[in-house]
Amino acid sequence: MFGTRHMNGNKRRYTVRQATEADLPVLADIKSPMAIHKDRLLDADSEKMLYMIIEEFGTVIGFGLLVFKRPPTWPDANDSSHLPAMVDLLVSPDRRSRGAGSFLISWMEETIRSRGGNHLYMCVDPVDNPRAHQLYLRLGYSTLQTQPYRSHWKFADSDGNVHEGNVWNIDMVKDLSQKTRGSPNTYEATLCQGAKFVTDSMC
Ligand SMILES: CC(C)(COP(=O)(O)OP(=O)(O)OC[C@H]1O[C@@H](n2cnc3c(N)ncnc32)[C@H](O)[C@@H]1OP(=O)(O)O)[C@@H](O)C(=O)NCCC(=O)NCCS
Repeated sequence: MFGTRHMNGNKRRYTVRQATEADLPVLADIKSPMAIHKDRLLDADSEKMLYMIIEEFGTVIGFGLLVFKRPPTWPDANDSSHLPAMVDLLVSPDRRSRGAGSFLISWMEETIRSRGGNHLYMCVDPVDNPRAHQLYLRLGYSTLQTQPYRSHWKFADSDGNVHEGNVWNIDMVKDLSQKTRGSPNTYEATLCQGAKFVTDSMC
C-alpha cells in the first residue's frame, strides 16, 4: 500500500514513502525541533494519518502529512471538517521549484482516490505565502472563502516546547473526481481587496 512511487519521465528522481524513526535526524534538520516529528510518528496510523517523506535520488528533501482523521492529541481533534487534508507540506529550500512539492501532492491525491475519496483540503496564507498559494491554484485547487481569516494555533510537543502563532489562512480544496484543473475562483477576484483587508486588520 505504501510502496514507493517514482516520477514519470524522470527515472527514480522522486520517491514517496512513510517516515520512520530512522528519518528523525534529517527531519529535524529540515524543520526543528525533533519532537514534532517524533510526535507525528507516534500519531501516524495507516487509516487516520500518514506521515510521508519525499526523497530526491534517495536523499530526504521534504515531508507532508495526509490526515484522514485528526489525531486525539491535536487541539482540533474533534474537528472532522475539511478532511482529508494535507498539513505542513515542506521541501528543503535548496530543493524547491523542481516539482517535488507537486509530486508529493499528486501522491496524496492518488492515495485518496485509491481509498474512494474525492477531495483533498489544505489551507494556506495567500498573502505571506503567495508561492504556495499559486502552486495550489495551478494544481487545480479552489478557495473556499472570499477573504482570508485570522487563525491562532498553539500546541505543545512531547518535549514540552510550546509552538504558537497567528496566521491569515484561506481554505482550499480540489475535487479529485474531476480530471480537469480548477476554474477561476472567488478569492483570486478579491486578492487585492483581501491583501488590503489583511494589512488594515493587522495595523
Ligand atoms: C510550497 C512548497 C512545498 C512547494 O514545493 P516545491 O518543491 O518548490 O514545489 P514545485 O517545485 O512542485 O512547484 C513550485 C514551483 O516550481 C515550479 N516547477 C515545478 N516543477 C518544475 C520544473 N520541472 N522545472 C521548473 N520549475 C518547476 C512550479 O511552477 C512552481 O513555480 P514557482 O517557482 O514560481 O513557485 C515549498 O515552496 C515549501 O516548502 N515552502 C515552505 C513551506 C510552505 O510554505 N509550505 C506550504 C504551506 S501551505
